[in-house]
Amino acid sequence: MKIFVTGGAGFIGSNFIHYWVKNHPDDQIVNFDKLTYAGNLENLSDIEKNSNYTFVHGDICDGNKVMEAMKGADIVVNFAAESHVDRSIMDPSPFLKTNVEGTGVLLNAALTHKVKRFHHISTDEVFGALPLNSPDKFNESTCYDPHSPYAASKASSDHLVRAYHTTYGLPISISNCSNNYGPYMFPEKLIPLAITNLLEGKKVPVYGDGLYVRDWLYVEDHCRAIDLILQKGKAGETYLIGSLTEDIPNIEIVEKILSLMGKKEDMIEFVKDRPGHDRRYAIDWRMIKRELGWEPQYSFDEYLKKTIDWYTTHQDWWKKIKTGEYQKYYEKQYEKS
Ligand code: NAD
Ligand code: DAU
Repeated sequence: MKIFVTGGAGFIGSNFIHYWVKNHPDDQIVNFDKLTYAGNLENLSDIEKNSNYTFVHGDICDGNKVMEAMKGADIVVNFAAESHVDRSIMDPSPFLKTNVEGTGVLLNAALTHKVKRFHHISTDEVFGALPLNSPDKFNESTCYDPHSPYAASKASSDHLVRAYHTTYGLPISISNCSNNYGPYMFPEKLIPLAITNLLEGKKVPVYGDGLYVRDWLYVEDHCRAIDLILQKGKAGETYLIGSLTEDIPNIEIVEKILSLMGKKEDMIEFVKDRPGHDRRYAIDWRMIKRELGWEPQYSFDEYLKKTIDWYTTHQDWWKKIKTGEYQKYYEKQYEKS
């Protein structure tokens, strides 16, 4: 089988390719990636010479290149996206281009090549925000209510993917997942930002009151869920993927990281809040458990520690990233209000 992965040089995409090589060694993998600031071929250096792996440098908005590269693909898994909420607030335009237009280009190519499955990786952010201290969770029937330009662009792409199923019969599936963490996560997101700042002796910026809640999932659990959807999921279906059974506010996540790294609470710096900041995300993942037998395997405390160990032993990886463009972004994002 030939699997066409977009955005495979990013965080989740590169973890997914590692997962796929290990669990489906007879498959051919094509990784199609633009290598934006978030794409990094070093994430895949251990498999780059494998005979069943090919990298194609390309933009999902480039119709001709996508059409050519997708030839012969049985399955498409679309990870490629602009993925950081704060960057979408600074400048929404690349989010509209890649996340909406790029998804449209991929769908057209998938239709032409008659792929057996187009799987679209989406996010729980399309559902908006839940109140704190409530039993409410997002599920497959929750209405869309995106708040950030990032979330709105992902919601648009989800609608487009479903429209290609309804209108043209393209065999699609969608998964809306909660916050991932693990190796190769770009250090602009809370967990790797906190760990790498502390390793550099810098404080951890916490937005607003720090009482925002996310539903953290170890990235390999996400990869296994996608695998199950591809093997056993129904065409046209949407699956929600999440993990935590209790709410852990951001401030507690940061306190756990401080404690595991032997740092004191004076390394926390409360900074100005993100505009339109969603209060709480929580996923009801009973449907994927019931229909596909998936449930998270990795405990948050244990795998947070493993993630800290990974960043501690891979300082070359993130120190190269935290220069140049990253520094400019960081200064702009965290400038004093
Ligand atoms: P990331 O930012 O780490 O990686 C994105 C990858 O896409 C990079 O390799 C980048 O070069 C590539 N890319 C961007 N624009 C492209 C274009 N126009 N053409 C081709 N390649 C392009 O992102 P991530 O955190 O790995 O997220 C992957 C997907 O999962 C995204 O669709 C995101 O919305 C979704 N998602 C992420 C999370 C999370 O916690 N990170 C949670 C749920 C869903
Ligand atoms: O929920 C899934 C989403 O999770 C994905 O769709 C996105 O691609 C991914 O980036 C992530 O979005 P979040 O905005 O939730 O992740 P982030 O790591 O940016 O922020 C997590 C929480 O931490 C959020 O409440 C904002 C807060 N935060 C973030 C940063 C970067 C801080 O307090 N300080 C920070 O410096």
